[in-house]
Amino acid sequence: MKVLDLIVKESCAVSATSVRMVLTAHDTLPDMQPGQFVELRIDDTPGVLLRRPISIHDYDKESNTLALLVQRVGKGTAWLCSRQAGDVVNAVLPLGNGFTLPSEGAPCSPLLIGGGVGVAPLLFLGRELCRRGIVPTFLLGARTSKELLCKDLFESVGTVYVTTEVGDEGVKGFVTHHPVLSEGDFNAVYVCGPKPMMQAVVTMARAGEVWCEVSLENRMACGIGACLCCVEDTLSGNVCVCKEGPVFNIDRLKWT
Ligand SMILES: Cc1cc2nc3c(=O)[nH]c(=O)nc-3n(C[C@H](O)[C@H](O)[C@H](O)COP(=O)(O)OP(=O)(O)OC[C@H]3O[C@@H](n4cnc5c(N)ncnc54)[C@H](O)[C@@H]3O)c2cc1C
Ligand code: FES
Repeated sequence: MKVLDLIVKESCAVSATSVRMVLTAHDTLPDMQPGQFVELRIDDTPGVLLRRPISIHDYDKESNTLALLVQRVGKGTAWLCSRQAGDVVNAVLPLGNGFTLPSEGAPCSPLLIGGGVGVAPLLFLGRELCRRGIVPTFLLGARTSKELLCKDLFESVGTVYVTTEVGDEGVKGFVTHHPVLSEGDFNAVYVCGPKPMMQAVVTMARAGEVWCEVSLENRMACGIGACLCCVEDTLSGNVCVCKEGPVFNIDRLKWT
C-alpha cells in the first residue's frame, strides 16, 4: 500500500454524470489486482473530510497508468469529476482484496455482470482474464443507453450483452432478465453493482450452483479496517469490507 500524488493525464465525460480519468505518478505505481480500490483525498471541499473509495477500473504497468470511472453523486465525487489534465489527486492504493483469478490454463468460462457505475472494476478484471487466454463475457446493465458506461472499451476486451431498464438498448429490464444468464454455459460469475441487483444475481447463481464472487460497496471511511463503518455480517461473523473484501465469494454471505 502506498500514498501517492496521482497526476491526471486525461479526464473525459462518459455520460451526463460520469467521468473516466487516466492517472499516472512520478513514482512507479504499485502492482494492483482487479477488484482492489483506491481511497482518494478530496481537497478544497468544505465538509468533505474523509477519503472516497473508488474501484480500479484499469491498470497498465507498462505505461504506469491507472484508470478510474467516477459517477457524480455528492460533493466528493463532484470534485473528482471536475479534475482536469495536470491536476493532482492524492491516493492511498491499492486497498482491499480483489477478485479470484483462475490459474493459467484452467478451464474457465466467466460471466462478468455490472450495473451502473458498478461496471468499473470489470474492465480490469476482463483484461486480466484475457491475459490468461480467457475471453470474458460481459453483461452490462443501466437505466438508459445514455447511462451505459464505456461499452466500446468492454467490447474491445470481450463479448458484451446489455440490458437497459427503459429498453432503448439491448434487452429491456434488469440484468437478471437477460437470456444469456440462463442460456449461457458459465462456470464463474463475477458481479458488481447496486445491492438489489447483486442479490438477484446471487440467488440465480446459488440456484444454478455456479461459483460466484461479488464486490460489495458498503459505505467506507478509513478504507484500512480501523473505523468499522463498513462492517458486513457474514457467515464467519462481522468483517470489514474494506479489509477482507470488497470482493467476497457468495458462500461467505448471509444474503438469502
Ligand atoms: C469499494 C468501493 C468501490 C467503489 N467504486 C466506485 C467507482 O469505481 N466509481 C464510483 O463512482 N463510485 C464508487 N464507489 C462509490 C463511491 O465511493 C461513493 O459514491 C462516494 O464515496 C460518494 O462520495 P460523495 O462525497 O460524492 O457523496 P456523499 O455526499 O458521501 O453521498 C452522496 C450520496 O451517495 C450515496 N453513497 C455514498 N457512498 C455510497 C456507496 N458506497 N454506495 C452506495 N451509495 C453511496 C450516499 O448515501 C448519498 O445518498 C465505490 C464505493 C466502494 C465502497
Ligand atoms: S472503512 Fe474503516 S473499517 Fe472499513
